[in-house]
Amino acid sequence: MTTTDTAAPVAPATAAPLRLGALEVWPPVVLAPMAGITNAPFRTLCREQSGGKGLFVSEMITTRALVERNAKTMQLIHFDPSEQPRSVQLYGVDPETVGRAAKMIAEEGLADHIDLNFGCPVPKVTRKGGGSALPYKRNLLRDILRQAVRNAGDLPVTMKMRMGIDDDHITYLDAGRIGAEEGVAAIALHGRTAIQHYSGQADWSAIARLRETVPSHVPVLGNGDIWSADDAARMVRETGCDGVVVGRGCLGRPWLFKELVSVFEGEIDYARPDFGYVARTMVRHAELLGEWIGDEKRGVVDFRKHVAWYTKGFSVGSELRNALATTSSLAELEDHLSRIDAAQHWPDSADGPRGRTSGAARVVLPEGWLDDPYDCAVPSADAELDTSGG
Ligand SMILES: Cc1cc2nc3c(=O)[nH]c(=O)nc-3n(C[C@H](O)[C@H](O)[C@H](O)COP(=O)(O)O)c2cc1C
Repeated sequence: MTTTDTAAPVAPATAAPLRLGALEVWPPVVLAPMAGITNAPFRTLCREQSGGKGLFVSEMITTRALVERNAKTMQLIHFDPSEQPRSVQLYGVDPETVGRAAKMIAEEGLADHIDLNFGCPVPKVTRKGGGSALPYKRNLLRDILRQAVRNAGDLPVTMKMRMGIDDDHITYLDAGRIGAEEGVAAIALHGRTAIQHYSGQADWSAIARLRETVPSHVPVLGNGDIWSADDAARMVRETGCDGVVVGRGCLGRPWLFKELVSVFEGEIDYARPDFGYVARTMVRHAELLGEWIGDEKRGVVDFRKHVAWYTKGFSVGSELRNALATTSSLAELEDHLSRIDAAQHWPDSADGPRGRTSGAARVVLPEGWLDDPYDCAVPSADAELDTSGG
C-alpha cells in the first residue's frame, strides 16, 4: 500500500494498554460494533491492517435470540479462528435474559469479552424502552449490568452508551457510576444524545467529564467522530480517555486501523492507498462475505452497501458506480473494477466524515417512560425483536 505523509503530524497519543479483566489490548483502539457491518469478514480485514492489534467488536446480538439459539444469531456470533480476543456485543432489555446470554457465552466459550449496547437510538428500539432509552431507568440498568457481570464468570463485561435521551434527560454520568459499581471492565461513551442520532458533532467534553466521574481503575473509552489517527490522538489528549472506539471512519477504509495503531506506537503512518489497492480490498471483502455466508452471490449482494464507501472521492464515473452497486458476482465486480484507473492516488475528499450522518430525530419512548427514572419495569420481550443498529 502506498503511504504518504501529507499532513503535519500531531503529537502521538500516549496511552497505556487497555486492561479488560485478564485481557490486555494494545493499542487501546476498538472497532465499534456496527450492525450489518462488523461481521467476521470485516473484522478480519481491519485486523489484518492492524497487524492483529486492537479489539474488534461483533455486530450486536440480541440476548433473547442468542438464548433461543436462533440460527442467524448463531452465525453472527461466529468468529474466525484467527480472531483473538473474540469480542461480542449484546443487546438486551431483560436482566434475566441478559444474564442467561452472558452465562451461555462464558460456559460455552463463545467469546472472550462481552460489550452491552445501551446506545441504539432507532425508534423501533427506543419505542420499547431499549437501547439509548434504557439508561434513563437507573435500577433496570443496574439489574442488567449486575446479571451480565455475575453470569459472565471471568469474562470482562463492558458497556457502551450515549450521553442520554436529549439535553433534558442526560444519563451518562449516573450510568457510568452505576456501571463502575456493578463491576464493568470499561465504559464507552458516544458523545451524542439519542435525539441527535448522527447530527452535529460529538461532544468530547462529555467524555472528559465521564473520565473525571468514574473511578480511575475503570477505563473510559471515547467514541464519536474519529476520522483519522490525528483525531484519535486529539481525543486522548483532550479528554484523558483511556482508549478510542472508531466506527464510521472505518467504513470502506479498513486501513484506517493501520493508521490508528501507528499513532499509538509513536509515529503516524498515514494509510492512503491508491485505487488499485482499494479495488483488491473490495474484491477480497466480497469474497470473504461470500465464504462467510456460504454463497458467492449473496456475499456480493451484501457487499454492495460498501461500494460507495470504498470508492468515495475516487474518479469512478456514475455509470460504473451504479454498475458496482448492482453487481451480482465476483467476476462482474472484478470486471467493473478493472475499468477504473488503478493508479489514482487517494483523494483528499476521501478523508473526513463518511457513513451515516442522519439528522436529529424525535426519540420515541414507551408511554410514561420519563415519569419515573427509578422504576424497574422490564420492557416487553418484543423490545428485542428484529433490532439492529446503534
Ligand atoms: C451502520 C451502523 C451500525 C451501528 N450499529 C451499532 C450496534 O450494533 N451497536 C452499537 O453499540 N452501536 C452501533 N453503532 C454506533 C457505533 O458503534 C458508534 O457508536 C457511532 O457510529 C459513533 O462512532 P463514529 O463516529 O466513530 O462512527 C452503529 C453505527 C452505524 C453507523
